[in-house]
Amino acid sequence: MSSFDTLRLDGVTRRFGGKDALSGLSLEIHKGEFIALLGPSGCGKSTALNCLAGLLPLSAGSIWQDDRRLDTLPPERRGFGMVFQSYALFPHLSVRKNIAFGLQMRHLPRAEVRRRTDEAIRLVRLDEHATKLPGQLSGGQQQRVAIARAVVLEPSLVLMDEPLSNLDAKLRLEMRTEIRRLHQSLGLTTVYVTHDQEEALSMADRLVVLRDGRVQQVGTPEELHTRPANRHVADFMGYRNLLPMRVTSVTREHVGVEGPGMTLTGTGVGDLFPGDEVVAAIRPEDLVVGEGGVPVTVEVVEYQGRELAVEARTDQGIMLHLRAAERPAPGDKVSVVADPARVLVFPGEPS
Ligand SMILES: Nc1ncnc2c1ncn2[C@@H]1O[C@H](COP(=O)(O)OP(=O)(O)O)[C@@H](O)[C@H]1O
Ligand SMILES: [Mg+2]
Repeated sequence: MSSFDTLRLDGVTRRFGGKDALSGLSLEIHKGEFIALLGPSGCGKSTALNCLAGLLPLSAGSIWQDDRRLDTLPPERRGFGMVFQSYALFPHLSVRKNIAFGLQMRHLPRAEVRRRTDEAIRLVRLDEHATKLPGQLSGGQQQRVAIARAVVLEPSLVLMDEPLSNLDAKLRLEMRTEIRRLHQSLGLTTVYVTHDQEEALSMADRLVVLRDGRVQQVGTPEELHTRPANRHVADFMGYRNLLPMRVTSVTREHVGVEGPGMTLTGTGVGDLFPGDEVVAAIRPEDLVVGEGGVPVTVEVVEYQGRELAVEARTDQGIMLHLRAAERPAPGDKVSVVADPARVLVFPGEPS
């Protein structure tokens, strides 16, 4: 196994027909880290992964494994493992043979192939299915074979491109835990691509949020959750209320903003001045029924486990997403409030 301390992407750029699919991605990945590349469809996640894997040549930039330049090497000389959304198993080979295939290609001694294959089968909990063909397995089991096939080669880096998107919701949850467990127990370094914000937050040590081929923010789940760098990241992190407003006052701590039929006090992200057009971002769970806030009329109430998810409209017709502990009725007039620390005010740059 070619091990390393740091994998460094330096201005990695890939163009298709004059348009940047990925623009100047710079990132240091440390050994043992689980990195998620997160963003909506078309933002450049697969492009980034394929550049790392060597399946796509770079248009500009470079990739380094410690002091060794990687981007000029063909995929097979990078020593990475890949898992795709489609499992791409050999349909005519058993689970065991699928997993052993890569080891056999490397002409390892037969006993070692057997030992490592057994170990990989055990790790992904397919002991009882080792002699079956892929067609006799469920989607989740097939994806486990694909994962075992990648990790059995002890790659220095595992690349996964939306590996769970073909599975149903319950299995996706199970496989999340499974992949994280494997990552830890094998001491892997993993780059995981997903458009699912919850998946990324729950699995990764650090997230890289992409939009239109550009990095928006790199940070831990906690950092992205509580301090999104801009309104696009906020949008992705579950700040469902994104309200166009105008700054009325700025103090050292807080920013006063007003919009149609509502005034709020929030916390500025970046330099703001009275009169600026801004976007106030609030998560539904931070907007609650309380005295002296924004007057709204309740429209829809949904039971969601411990809480009620409520949609309500201001007098000027702006829809707000909030939470309530007690069930209001559609048509009820209530007032909603938010802690100024949880109302993030972003510059309203053109999108
Ligand atoms: N082979 C290609 N030829 C032309 N355009 C491509 C190609 N692959 C990707 N793109 C474009 O690059 C952008 C990023 O694509 P991709 O990396 O696949 O996004 P994601 O994986 O985040 O959904 C998209 O606009 C896509 O249409
Ligand atoms: Mg993709």
